Amino acid sequence: MISIFRKVKELGYSKTIILIINRLSRYLNRLSRYLFLPQWYIYKLKNLGFSDRTFNNTGCEVELALETKEHFIRTILSQNKGKKFLEIEIGEYPNIKRVNLMQESEIQYTACDFEAVCKSHKKALEIRGIDTTNMKFASNRVGAYCWTLFEMLINKERFDVIYLDGHHTFYVDLPAIFLAHYILIPGGYLLVDDIEWTCNFLKNNLLRSFHDWYFYNRMYDLAEYEIEQQSIPHIKMITEQILVAELGYSKIESYSTPAWWTLQKPITAEL
Ligand SMILES: C[S@@+](CC[C@H](N)C(=O)[O-])C[C@H]1O[C@@H](n2cnc3c(N)ncnc32)[C@H](O)[C@@H]1O
Repeated sequence: MISIFRKVKELGYSKTIILIINRLSRYLNRLSRYLFLPQWYIYKLKNLGFSDRTFNNTGCEVELALETKEHFIRTILSQNKGKKFLEIEIGEYPNIKRVNLMQESEIQYTACDFEAVCKSHKKALEIRGIDTTNMKFASNRVGAYCWTLFEMLINKERFDVIYLDGHHTFYVDLPAIFLAHYILIPGGYLLVDDIEWTCNFLKNNLLRSFHDWYFYNRMYDLAEYEIEQQSIPHIKMITEQILVAELGYSKIESYSTPAWWTLQKPITAEL
């Protein structure tokens, strides 16, 4: 109870009311999602018998992988004070500690995602009193972020660090990776998440979690891929073949795990 009073005092009355209203509208929004529950059960029925054994990680292993990845991101950001950082797909919920670190380090941050996701992400930051005026949200309403990245290329925007964590599939991320390469400065870092992700892994998650299904279901059409292509990690394939083998990126082992690769663009690469 005392801590609630302390929090209200810290935030001030008007911010507390806004926070409560936003929380309530989030809960209502969550509740309205349940109207789609029958559709999820139909999806589950259609995929009865499907199982993917690619990842059998325990909750602790998943937690540790997330912590490690977060540690790598923050270390790299704190080594790049005042530099330009592009996050190719930011997700619904901001990581407040990471955002605070970016602000302390005066990182010039550009964030990509669907328009609706960018809006709710920005709102979540503002509710917590974080000033978003120096952050740039580069969103797409339809299609994919390749268009946004192409516009950045034309506008001669360049970044010191790029973090790719978007759709994770071949047709979306092959052009995205080429564009990321062109807008990254020589010697810059390309952080690639979900190296081992496969379509089957996604399908498994959609079958297991209604919330994952609700958020991701409309973004994917797995019928674009042959059955065997659905079990291949697309990001790993593109990263190995294009970034490392063709474009000469080096993998920084001390900041990489099987699921997360920190890559450095050759210093000699042309801008
Ligand atoms: C795994 S989340 C990103 C998480 C975030 N990087 C983090 O560290 O918390 C993947 C994001 O990719 C976005 N995404 C997937 N396909 C997209 C598309 N075609 N256009 C724009 N955004 C897309 C989703 O909206 C989602 O927010």
